[in-house]
Amino acid sequence: MMKGNILVSGGSGYIGSHTCIELINSGYKPIIVDNLSNSDIQSLDRIEEIAGERPEFFEINLCDREALNQIPKSLRIDALIHFAAFKSVNESVADPLMYYHNNLESLVNILRFCTERNIEHLVFSSSCTVYGDAKELPVTEETPLQKASSPYGNTKQISETIILDYLKVHPELNTISLRYFNPAGAHPSAKIGELPRGIPNNLLPYLTQTAVGLRDELKVFGGDYNTKDGSAIRDYIHVSDLAEAHLKAFEFMKSGKMTSNYDLFNLGSGNGYTVLEVIKSYEKVSGEKLPYQIVDRRPGDVEKIWASTEKAEKILGFTPSRGIDDITKSAWEWEKHYRKNIEKSIS
Ligand code: NAD
Ligand code: UD1
Repeated sequence: MMKGNILVSGGSGYIGSHTCIELINSGYKPIIVDNLSNSDIQSLDRIEEIAGERPEFFEINLCDREALNQIPKSLRIDALIHFAAFKSVNESVADPLMYYHNNLESLVNILRFCTERNIEHLVFSSSCTVYGDAKELPVTEETPLQKASSPYGNTKQISETIILDYLKVHPELNTISLRYFNPAGAHPSAKIGELPRGIPNNLLPYLTQTAVGLRDELKVFGGDYNTKDGSAIRDYIHVSDLAEAHLKAFEFMKSGKMTSNYDLFNLGSGNGYTVLEVIKSYEKVSGEKLPYQIVDRRPGDVEKIWASTEKAEKILGFTPSRGIDDITKSAWEWEKHYRKNIEKSIS
């Protein structure tokens, strides 16, 4: 039985495409809205190959309010997941207005759209970056937010505030913000995964591109942190677990158990791993050595952060089932699969 239509903004991107697969597998019908600014139309083919259904697709820039009228008014939308945003910390430092414009204007239009189309349930992609350099670990949803360390991080803080202000005058709209920690890994089919444009900023894509010989060596940013091996600690969560958490968030909203029309949850594994531990995990699952070098700290990085998962576990019933080895293995499988196919298409 089809459970409902879910509009997925940014659905052809990394987390969005994995979530579309989970939605289809669970009986929902995802409808993607994306302007392909950081994704490829071929991700629809991959979703279809894996899940057996091709999501309907609208190529729309969410900053263009009028363009949203291309989505037929006759289409019933039961819920909306708003993934679409720019997400590179470095890029946001270099071009802050590009980030404030894209991430905030699109959110404003999404909120208006929810009201115009009588959409009752919204899930918003936030980030652990809102906690900044947290003083107490693990980070709970009550941990005070610190000043954002980048314009990107600031767009997430401002977005949460915009949503809260809007909901005060729109009690008919339920919203959950999900603060993702470090999403990583790929679908077990190895057909979709993380494919950043240009040189990766994030650890896992840089590591796997080094593993397939595309990069000479991984640079470990900082070996003098106050951690067990001197490298920085993060909480990596498998993208398929993250995708499942979005379904749990809907189910919770639809259950009528929310005590107000807004709630927020951390989505992490609850475990912190150092960069060197992530490398070790990769070396274990692949049986290969990774060339790496410890270099200076990266400006703006925090020493350590990991999530308290208690609230998501208790209220959403969400516990990640995949660990760090599943993350490094699936990311590596995806990278190999992707590079092999590129070579095939070139030769
Ligand atoms: P992604 O870049 O792979 O996907 C985002 C998608 O949104 C892309 O397909 C892009 O084309 C689209 N998009 C961007 N601006 C748009 C616009 N104006 N109109 C229409 N489409 C637009 O990124 P992702 O990793 O899948 O991230 C999804 C969300 O999760 C983002 O909001 C991001 O900030 C948040 N998040 C990501 C991470 C992470 O490490 N990947 C961590 C925390 C939070
Ligand atoms: C960063 C952002 C976060 C954003 C997320 C997804 C900051 C402070 N945080 O998280 O807001 O949501 O990306 O885009 O920028 N590392 C290396 N070598 C590399 C790459 C990374 O050692 O080549 C280390 C980093 O120093 C860090 C860890 O690996 O300790 C994870 O880095 P990364 O994947 O970039 O994520 P975050 O910095 O945690």
